[in-house]
Amino acid sequence: MKRAVTPGTFDPITYGHLDVITRASQLMDEVIVAVAASSGKSPLFTLEERAELARQATRHLPNVRVEPFEGLLVDFARQQEAQVLVKGLRAITDFEYEFQMAALNYQLATELETIFIMSPPQYMYLSSSIVRELASLGSSVDPFVPPHVARALESKFANR
Ligand code: COA
Repeated sequence: MKRAVTPGTFDPITYGHLDVITRASQLMDEVIVAVAASSGKSPLFTLEERAELARQATRHLPNVRVEPFEGLLVDFARQQEAQVLVKGLRAITDFEYEFQMAALNYQLATELETIFIMSPPQYMYLSSSIVRELASLGSSVDPFVPPHVARALESKFANR
C-alpha cells in the first residue's frame, strides 16, 4: 500500500492544488491531504474551515482524505504511516525553497521520499494569496477555485 501525504496551508484550496492532488491520487493507493495549521502565516480561513473546503473539493476522489495537522510534517507523515510526500512545483522560483524543504525533511526522516509534480501552464502562476487578493478586491475567482471556495471567500470578505 503506497500512501502519500500532500501537505500545504490550503488558504484556500485552488485548482492548482487540486491538480496535484488528483494526479497524486492516480499514482498512489491513498493520498492524505495534510492541512497545516501554519499559524505563523495568519491564515484567512481557520484550520477547520480550510480542511472542510479541501474535503468538499476532493470528495469525488475515493482514495483521498483530508486531515488537519499541527507540528512537524515528518511526524504527521510517520503517524499516518505514509512513505511519500508529494509537492507541486510551479515556476522555477519554487525550486530553491522546495529543494530546501525536501532536504530538511530527508534529514529528519530518511524513509520518507519527496516527489514533485509539475504544475500545468495554466496553474503555473496561481497561488492562494493571489486568489485571496482578487476576492478581497471583489474580482471573480471562478477560474481558479471550485464554486464552494469562491462562495466561502465571498462571505469571508463580506463579513470584514
Ligand atoms: N498550485 C497552486 N498554488 C500552489 C501550489 C499549486 N500546485 N503549490 C503551492 N501553492 C501555493 C500556495 O497556494 C501558497 O500560496 P501563498 O503563499 O501565496 O498563499 C504557496 O504556494 C505556499 O504554499 P503552502 O501551502 O503554504 O506550502 P509551503 O510549500 O509553504 O509548505 C507546509 C507548507 C505545510 C508543507 C510546510 O510549512 C510544513 O511542512 N509545515 C509543517 C512544519 C514543518 O514540518 N516544518 C519543517 C519543514 S522542512
